[in-house]
Amino acid sequence: MTDPATVTAPAAIRACTLARHPNGLPVAGDFAIVETPYNGLAPNQLLVKNEWFSVEAVLRRRLDPGDSPYLAPFSIGDTLDGWAVGRVVESRAAGFDVGSYVFHYHGWRDYGVLTAVEPSWTSPRVIPVDHVQKPEYFLGALGPSGLTSWAGLLLVGQLAENDVVYVSAAAGAIGGLAVQIAKLKGHRVVASVGSDEKAAFVVDVLGADAAFNYRTEGLTAGLARVAPDGIDLYFDNVGGEHLAAALEVLRPGGRVALCGAVSTYNTAEADQPGVKNLFKAIEQGLTLRGFLARMYHDRLPDMRADISAWLADGRLVYPENVVEGLDEAPGAFIGMLEGRNIGKTLVHL
Ligand SMILES: NC(=O)c1ccc[n+]([C@@H]2O[C@H](COP(=O)([O-])OP(=O)(O)OC[C@H]3O[C@@H](n4cnc5c(N)ncnc54)[C@H](OP(=O)(O)O)[C@@H]3O)[C@@H](O)[C@H]2O)c1
Repeated sequence: MTDPATVTAPAAIRACTLARHPNGLPVAGDFAIVETPYNGLAPNQLLVKNEWFSVEAVLRRRLDPGDSPYLAPFSIGDTLDGWAVGRVVESRAAGFDVGSYVFHYHGWRDYGVLTAVEPSWTSPRVIPVDHVQKPEYFLGALGPSGLTSWAGLLLVGQLAENDVVYVSAAAGAIGGLAVQIAKLKGHRVVASVGSDEKAAFVVDVLGADAAFNYRTEGLTAGLARVAPDGIDLYFDNVGGEHLAAALEVLRPGGRVALCGAVSTYNTAEADQPGVKNLFKAIEQGLTLRGFLARMYHDRLPDMRADISAWLADGRLVYPENVVEGLDEAPGAFIGMLEGRNIGKTLVHL
């Protein structure tokens, strides 16, 4: 943790920008680190020294031109953004004292100039930090990743007694929490991941009942082995072929929480193969429900109560994949799209 007394305002702010739109999997040259002078604060602004920022798979969608209001695309030269935590260094905003920890959306830079605005999903807010609630947890287990997993399972997926739950990308930030929450609620949980090392991790560390490597075993064979009698709830982080395979094994009345579709993010929509067996949803009376974590923002306190209690008594573990320094951020992002991460990917500054 940085001692706020030793931090002064910088002459310039370093930030990671989009240098060009990627073609498929991003490469290092698609990003640039630039410096812009820091010229002080306007009224109602605060300067935050970032300590951690979150690296998320969904950012990939924003690197392509598009028009989604949720995933506003970046233009060439734009500074990337995303969730971050840091400490206030200078403040001209009521309620944001120097030294306090702030959760905000100006990640991908070493310092953020934030405007304190009325509460909204991305407005800066002061967070309490203690020995259990480490600042970086507010980016993951106690923040957007926690809410996504918790709400996706319990509210969107309507987790019900005796459900067999299937989680994809199960060694990642969202998937790893989903596996553990479903286990803590007493369910049989099966999982898919992209390596044998991850399959062992998901079973041995996260407590899944069974896991398979979709790259070597294949989705159909893997699901048949780990869930021979089918599944009731699919927590879908991957989309595409994973979703199609899950539709084949969902039992009557089953549910899918459509959380993300990472398998499609490096491919233009027109070139994606699509899910061709949606008729299964009709045949089996399935419910497929998409969601964004922010739709359940009002349930943040409930999620935090559950997850902080599980963290405190050690029933939930929260692995992190940490890289040091802004210059390493593009590599960490590319690595997670390639499946090299276990747990939540974070940049520490
Ligand atoms: N709905 C929401 O509000 C919300 C919020 C946050 C994130 N999400 C979604 O949640 C999902 C997980 O995001 P995250 O940020 O936590 O990332 P993450 O799971 O920590 O990392 C991404 C993982 O995706 C897997 N992956 C990458 N390419 C794949 C492919 N072609 N096929 C199958 N798996 C692939 C890799 O794991 P393997 O090695 O196992 O393949 C990789 O480790 C994403 O789909 C994201 O968009 C949704």
